[in-house]
Amino acid sequence: MTYPIIRIRSDFPILARRVNGRPLTYLDSAASAQKPNVVIDSQSEYYRQGYAAVHRGIHTLSNEATIRMESVRAQVACFIHAALPDEIIFVKSATEGINLVVNSWGRHNLQSGDNIIITEMEHHANIVPWQMLVKEKQLSLRYIPLLPNGMLDIARLPALIDARTRLLAITQVSNVLGICNPLQELIASVRAESEVVVLVDGAQGIMHQTVDVQALDCDFYVFSGHKLYGPSGIGVLYAKKALLDAMPPWEGGGSMIRTVSLTKDTIFNDPPWRFEAGSPNTAGMIGLCAAINYVEQIGLNNIQSYENELMRYALEALHQVPSLTLYGPDARIGVIAFNLGQHHAYDVGSFLDQYGIAIRTGHHCAMPLMTHFRVPSMCRASLAMYTNREDIDRLVSGLLRVQSLLD
Ligand SMILES: Cc1ncc(COP(=O)(O)O)c(C=O)c1O
Repeated sequence: MTYPIIRIRSDFPILARRVNGRPLTYLDSAASAQKPNVVIDSQSEYYRQGYAAVHRGIHTLSNEATIRMESVRAQVACFIHAALPDEIIFVKSATEGINLVVNSWGRHNLQSGDNIIITEMEHHANIVPWQMLVKEKQLSLRYIPLLPNGMLDIARLPALIDARTRLLAITQVSNVLGICNPLQELIASVRAESEVVVLVDGAQGIMHQTVDVQALDCDFYVFSGHKLYGPSGIGVLYAKKALLDAMPPWEGGGSMIRTVSLTKDTIFNDPPWRFEAGSPNTAGMIGLCAAINYVEQIGLNNIQSYENELMRYALEALHQVPSLTLYGPDARIGVIAFNLGQHHAYDVGSFLDQYGIAIRTGHHCAMPLMTHFRVPSMCRASLAMYTNREDIDRLVSGLLRVQSLLD
């Protein structure tokens, strides 16, 4: 099948915008992806025709909205190949999903002297919540170090695991280097040593790869809707049912209870609702449903082969920029991190913006990774299903111009 790039681009209205007098070159999809019309329209249709508070409602609109919400839960379960819809918890983001696991599973199950393993390439969202728990409960935080090229030094893992290892929390794909970690192999090796619970941060993997949480055999998996061409403010935590059943709530409020009394203990609801206190972001779920439908209609496999081909083109094209330092190995998914000579990433990004080229600059919420490469910041261009060769060509000529201006 020929990849329908022209049609896809026309489905994303923002791509027709001009920025600073130039056609928009959007290369910041790893931070947040743009939205196709179907996502935008689905939310507007919901607010116009279907909106109501979900659960507890006796009227038609409320019932309809509740059914739609629960059908999105089932759809998400299918999308990531979970065994049951009840294993899907709606949260506001990947960050909130990790914080839920930390504050519910972590607080409940980890004791002083236990250790947890992360990696040196994690996004702060998968570092800081664990550090907070480590401090509170006197745990120890270990990490899989990186090889000079940024890949995980997997040979160092066995030495990190002992009888007090309780958790491995690891990203599927690095948000800076685009490295796709060998999760299956890593999960099998930690499980061979000890009864380790595994959390996978899917924030950068979900839009590029088919995910099968059962085949991976991870215990937790998180992702954000906004990186999957869906709305912001909606995310997903997948958790194996047996774990969820044993986990206490982390936030209290409406919807997460069965009975409340001022004189007796409150009885909590079953999962997943036990973990969804308050009025949920149903419009976000409707948008997420449309985003998943859209992605599935094009096919993640088709998207992946298109993006791989475009990545090869981009890496080749970037060789034309003499003083460019690329970080990470060539086998990468979605993102290209670089610096231009000795110039600060902010300067490069600001100049590119003058030409309508949107990239991300800074530490990318991965300061330990910056420390590994001994740089304060990097530039990052990221690809999505709608990125085309012209975007890459504009980036290359933009960088050449910036270089001649700054040198
Ligand atoms: C690898 C990774 N993990 C977690 C996050 C956090 O995602 P969010 O800000 O949507 O919660 C990001 C966001 O960039 C990410 O790239």
